Amino acid sequence: MAVRSVGIVGGGLMGSGIAEVCARSDLEVRLVEASAELAAAGRARIERSTARALERGRITEEERDRALGRIAPGTDLEALRDVDMVIEAIPERLELKRELFGRLDRIAAGHAILATNTSALPVIDIARATSRPEHVVGTHFFNPPPVMQLLELVRSIDTDDATLATARAFGEALGKQVIVAQDRAGFIVNLLLVPFLNGAVRLYETGLASREDIDAGMRLGCNHPMGPLELLDHIGLDTALMVCEALHAEYASSEYAAPPLLRRMVAAGRLGRKSGRGFYEYPA
Ligand code: NAI
Repeated sequence: MAVRSVGIVGGGLMGSGIAEVCARSDLEVRLVEASAELAAAGRARIERSTARALERGRITEEERDRALGRIAPGTDLEALRDVDMVIEAIPERLELKRELFGRLDRIAAGHAILATNTSALPVIDIARATSRPEHVVGTHFFNPPPVMQLLELVRSIDTDDATLATARAFGEALGKQVIVAQDRAGFIVNLLLVPFLNGAVRLYETGLASREDIDAGMRLGCNHPMGPLELLDHIGLDTALMVCEALHAEYASSEYAAPPLLRRMVAAGRLGRKSGRGFYEYPA
């Protein structure tokens, strides 16, 4: 099945970005938010993002206008009755996602794929809230979706071959490089990234080197585009802590255990760029 229309539930950071990517790839997009104000805020985020893409010469004015014209924001899940695929991008809480998938199961067309953008929850736990777990797949986009080239697909123990093939073709049609992981916490990217980032925090905690030297070490010594502490500030320390906790709960291995400094920084509200201070300072 070729995906021609997509419903996105949740128009926050990720949902609005995914909606933009889909609309820029000629798909019809229905964006469902919790209220009319939030739906308008999601739409405004896409307008700002496409305006930046236009300024940078990544799209033409006509492409921008066409993409915006393909996105219908709203608040009613019933609008997703006839879409080919629904992508959920609501907050990372299992009970919320399960409740939503139960409703989507009743509303969405029989052929529709139901996808979750979860970064750390088991896809099977979400899939089992529906009567069609074989049509449920993880589509883990990276932030910001219009810029990041990767789409990590997550195949649960129940996902069938046709659903995975459709999700892969969908990702490729968006121009993404698609990778596939089994449904284990961390998938591919976070499973490798988290021990590395935790190592950097522990190293900083011991006083072995300054934040700048740790970051320059990995930027210039390993050609990483960002040092690990800069990257943590970019991801958000609260998000990083949540991912550590999910991985540690799954594998009970010390390499995933959150370093004490990371916990203390989150407790102090030093969440990185979004709060103005993390390992570095970001004056408003
Ligand atoms: P966010 O908090 O920016 O956006 C979530 C949106 O969902 C909010 O705008 C909220 O109003 C809306 N929402 C809540 N309940 C709803 C409902 N029942 N119906 C419709 N809309 C509803 O969160 P963000 O960062 O976009 O994350 C969404 C998902 O993507 C989470 O599962 C997260 O783990 C995952 N993710 C986040 C990444 C990131 O860098 N922020 C990266 C990859 C995945």
